[in-house]
Amino acid sequence: MTAPKQTAAHVEELRQQIRHHNHLYYVLDDPQLSDARYDRLLRELGKLEAKYPDLITEDSPTQRVGAKPVKAFNQVHHRLPMLSLDNAFDEDELRNFDRRLRDRLKLDDSEEVEYAAEPKLDGLAVSILYEDGSLVRGATRGDGRTGEDVTHNIKTIHAIPLRLTGSDHPPLLEVRGEVIMPRAGFDALNARARGKGEKEFVNPRNAAAGSLRQLDPGITAQRPLDIYFYGIGEISAGHAAPTHAMAMQLLRQWGLKVSPESALLTGVEQCLAYYAAIFGKRGSLPYDIDGVVFKVNRFDYRETLGFVARAPRWAIAQKFPAEEETTIVKDVEFQVGRTGALTPVARLDPVFVGGVTVSNATLHNMDELQRKDVRIGDTVVVRRAGDVIPEIVSVIKKKRPGKSRKVRLPAKCPVCGADVERPENEAVARCSGGLYCPAQRKEAIKHFASRRAMDVDGVGDKIVDQLVETGIVKTPADLYRLSLENLSALDRMAEKSAGNILEALEKSKQTSLARFLFALGIREVGEATALSLSAYFTDLDELMAADEEALMAVQDVGTVVASHVRTFFQQTHNKEIIDALLAQGIRWPVEPRAASDDQLPLAGKVFVLTGTLDKLTRDQAKSRLRELGAKVAGSVSRKTDFVVAGEKPGSKYEKALNMGISVIDEEALLQLIGK
Ligand code: IVH
Repeated sequence: MTAPKQTAAHVEELRQQIRHHNHLYYVLDDPQLSDARYDRLLRELGKLEAKYPDLITEDSPTQRVGAKPVKAFNQVHHRLPMLSLDNAFDEDELRNFDRRLRDRLKLDDSEEVEYAAEPKLDGLAVSILYEDGSLVRGATRGDGRTGEDVTHNIKTIHAIPLRLTGSDHPPLLEVRGEVIMPRAGFDALNARARGKGEKEFVNPRNAAAGSLRQLDPGITAQRPLDIYFYGIGEISAGHAAPTHAMAMQLLRQWGLKVSPESALLTGVEQCLAYYAAIFGKRGSLPYDIDGVVFKVNRFDYRETLGFVARAPRWAIAQKFPAEEETTIVKDVEFQVGRTGALTPVARLDPVFVGGVTVSNATLHNMDELQRKDVRIGDTVVVRRAGDVIPEIVSVIKKKRPGKSRKVRLPAKCPVCGADVERPENEAVARCSGGLYCPAQRKEAIKHFASRRAMDVDGVGDKIVDQLVETGIVKTPADLYRLSLENLSALDRMAEKSAGNILEALEKSKQTSLARFLFALGIREVGEATALSLSAYFTDLDELMAADEEALMAVQDVGTVVASHVRTFFQQTHNKEIIDALLAQGIRWPVEPRAASDDQLPLAGKVFVLTGTLDKLTRDQAKSRLRELGAKVAGSVSRKTDFVVAGEKPGSKYEKALNMGISVIDEEALLQLIGK
């Protein structure tokens, strides 16, 4: 069916709009239309094209995806070869390059060369051919003379226009640029692969290359690819600009994306400054670069200079130190952070990477270590990007020696010997010696003295740092042994302030059980949990002796918190420090019972519940007992009056029998509480 003229015009208008918004979004990074409205335009165009297939053109925005997979790649002959670049690895090599040029160009000493500078993108080079403004072919660089026809894939990249903008474009234009995968897209792609249990890409460059070499453009279309153009190959006679900078300006006008980091520089000193500036910026750019490229700006100079072998004399890449290298894992040790987190750290055969010699690399946590399956003896890829701490990227499995050794999480803290905990489903393992562990000292003491904990006025971070660094204070209990002398000896500490601190310490001894528990810094025990624990147990000894089952009887205490509390109080050193603190005179009022409580029927009686009740929930039983004046404890002790045994009672039942404490069943309990 032939389309009415009006429809044909409307279709063309839709295409113009879509191209315009595509350019704003993908090339200028300045979207002015919501995704939904952009999609609506595309859908409308698609519908009209479906109705009138005669209207479909190769460069219509609808033609980006949906091309059929190819069986194989056709070869493309580059009529102007795609050259490579010589490298300069240091300042001297760059200066030599500049001197050679000036000699060949016979410039006198006062004449500087103008250079066009751009980041050297870490992707892959492509050549894209436009005829009469329409994209007709996209090819890889290949060996520089012959590449592969990847038109079907190139067309899926939104930053590459299917039609040039403006009207003065040459009948023939072959542009060259670098296809890249921005880091965010790369990370997302790998996260998806990981989720599906598929193989991950090693780096963005490989991912970009792999994406372009797909036979099915449907796959390429899902890959987050981008492009920057950096040169012109063939161009119709009469259209060429006289300099690189002007050529790039033309590309911009035609809707082709050119690096916003590009600059026009005069002389080698400016080149060195540019290199330093881009190097400093490297980590904050959204894509990987491996250096900068300097190109002689004037094309007539380029003509004179010519090229050798496969690289032009008029350009050079000044490379950054490599960010990734391979080396061997000699050992894996565990470092304990200030919050007790154990971080596996690989000891490496020293290797020069990212501009420094690296002999340690972090593995972050056990999950990461296991996921990457790093073993002692492995050859690994180490990455050091910018000032970021070096890390192990991957293991080269092919190089794994027969005698490689798996890494196991230590059972004891390598710093203080306390038990290491790693709750199920958590990536991070931690030392449980919070109060004692030298690695955690500063943090533990700062927390202990903080306002919402023991509230020791005047003992802030700086003072704690000094007290710990000088070795005067090793545990929170040492705070209470400080003397006026100790304190006055600290930096910028007047005798008056020292006196105030001693007073504040003395004052802090009068506290509440909840504050004290919070101050101990038990993992996952915040203020609210500390309050629940103190309301339930009232007695510290009882809490310290409570097993996990007893702890879980407390409101809001689940398996994780119960396990942290239990492990904490099982550490001998933690217990010693608590004893020392109490010996220093830390006190809290025992919750006084209301006078009338004495008259309640179960006043003063201590109950312990074990096993499952049939007619009541535990919480109901507890609150009813408390209403009647009884106390419900978490574990059996000499103070226990009754143990209520439900279905499948636990060890408390045995204990009660052994200690000769009365055991009652649910029936008897119901009678007691009048239900
Ligand atoms: S100009 C004759 N500019 O580097 C000059 N190349 O080693 C040809 N590259 O194959 C290239 N960013 O893939 C140029 N801003 C840039 C570049 C760049 C990356 C790549 C390109 C080329 C390789 C040469």
